Amino acid sequence: MNFNNTIFLTSYGEKKQFKKSNCKEIVFSGRSNVGKSSLINKLINKKSLARVSSRPGKTSTINLYKVNDYVRLVDLPGYGYAKVSESEKLRWSDLVEGYFNSGPNIVLVIQIIDIRHKPSMDDITMIKFLIERKLKFIIVLTKSDKLNRTQRKECLDNLKDNFPFENIDFIIFSSSSGEGLENLKAVIEESIK
Ligand code: GTP
Ligand code: MG
Repeated sequence: MNFNNTIFLTSYGEKKQFKKSNCKEIVFSGRSNVGKSSLINKLINKKSLARVSSRPGKTSTINLYKVNDYVRLVDLPGYGYAKVSESEKLRWSDLVEGYFNSGPNIVLVIQIIDIRHKPSMDDITMIKFLIERKLKFIIVLTKSDKLNRTQRKECLDNLKDNFPFENIDFIIFSSSSGEGLENLKAVIEESIK
């Protein structure tokens, strides 16, 4: 699949804006500042179609990108940013749950975790939700360029020890170096068949 002609489609800030679509959707989920928008830009080979945050918690809408007539990318707002107000957190869960309940044709969720950190409570909640909903998902460990070989091993061991799920696939990724990009594209390709 060619991602190079991807265009920005729309942003949803409220549930009532959702429109039904038969497109296959690839969803990008993860805590605030983990690198969701950067990963999307890397995938579609554009510098800044998806807005990259200078400060965490910036993407507060669900942003949709059209890859072609039958595939869309869905950039969810990041969760878990401590400085966000209670009402903003409620708005987040309302919006995100509203999206999952609106009957989208989700073929793959790309759940992103910073390779340097063990999964947060919010990450675990999100993954449990994906399992409950029987959604196909993959874990992408991003920002791998920030680690040397020894640190990478330490972080991976730490992550596996703190990961309360079995038989889950990981892809090690970096938006800076491009590590894992071909691997990720192959998984996406498989999911839209
Ligand atoms: P929100 O939209 O706020 O939830 O953030 P996000 O998950 O979309 O993260 P975003 O892509 O905006 O990246 C956050 C910060 O991390 C930016 O300063 C990026 O440049 C940086 N970043 C993202 N991915 C990588 C990576 O693979 N390597 C390095 N070194 N920095 C990265
Ligand atoms: Mg973002």
